[in-house]
Amino acid sequence: MTWNLPGAPWLIAHKSMLKVNKPKLFTICGQDYVFWKNEKGEISALENICPHMGAKLSDGWICPDTNTIACPFHALEFDSEGRAILPNEKNSKPLAKQLKLFFQGDFIWTYANQEPKLPIPDVLEKLSTQFRFIGVAGDVTIKAPFLDALEINHDVNHAKGTHRELFRIKETIVNDFQANNYFSVSIIKHIREKNTLSEYRKNIALLFSPNPVELVLENYFPSLVVVYNDSPLGKLVQAFTIYPQNQNTTRIFIPLFAEKSFGVFNSILEPPTIKATEEIIRQDVTMLENLYPRFEPKIRLSHEEPLRWVRQLYHNW
Ligand code: FES
Ligand SMILES: [Fe+2]
Repeated sequence: MTWNLPGAPWLIAHKSMLKVNKPKLFTICGQDYVFWKNEKGEISALENICPHMGAKLSDGWICPDTNTIACPFHALEFDSEGRAILPNEKNSKPLAKQLKLFFQGDFIWTYANQEPKLPIPDVLEKLSTQFRFIGVAGDVTIKAPFLDALEINHDVNHAKGTHRELFRIKETIVNDFQANNYFSVSIIKHIREKNTLSEYRKNIALLFSPNPVELVLENYFPSLVVVYNDSPLGKLVQAFTIYPQNQNTTRIFIPLFAEKSFGVFNSILEPPTIKATEEIIRQDVTMLENLYPRFEPKIRLSHEEPLRWVRQLYHNW
């Protein structure tokens, strides 16, 4: 086992997370990369270190006519294959290393240039045909090791504490947990306290959280937990995505999908739904960043099978 699980497929972005012709820094498995998207929506990704004298390419700028990135130090340009554009040299060798990307529609995956060990799950492709993509929540760094973030995503008991302000959960019932290799499914039910009318008024996204909340969680080790939330407004799907940045930092973001369209009301319903999901992330991040260093748990709760499943896969990688 190593902290960054070499050969795992990592979902690193949805194309909407990149602005046209703006470089963006990504850190994955201990390595920095610069990404940029051109007007056609094509994505380029290079190691972020300039092969000339080590400047950060992500601090540079994009030249739209040539689809090259200019280094902020001496303005040398590199194309999407990492070749330097030098006045006297045609077809020079790539010097800045490319990051190999795999696309599923607008979703971007990578193996961080490692030999693939697991296939890329096709769940997002399926979701994109059945549901309406409504946006991405989060895209924040958690100052906690990957395993901590992985565990909280498989910890059905934490909603009662970590998310009590939002959902006011009284009890969690696990109806089923089935694991098959690197994939598992949990079916859970949260019994909540009643929300007041003013709470609904303040947070319209609570309409997506009926009482009880019935959830199906599809777990695609190690990068993705897809949560299907049944509500009077139709299914809401949250794809909890994590990847290791460095040994002690983890990135999280959540693409969201809705089953139904409410026409003009989409613009009223979607922003608070994204905001409520951001609040969920904020609560997880606060909890994870305030834990004492890891120790062997001295108490076992019920419903910890998904936690044990994910821990074992991580340690046996
Ligand atoms: S360091 Fe990048 S061009 Fe000199
Ligand atoms: Fe959580």
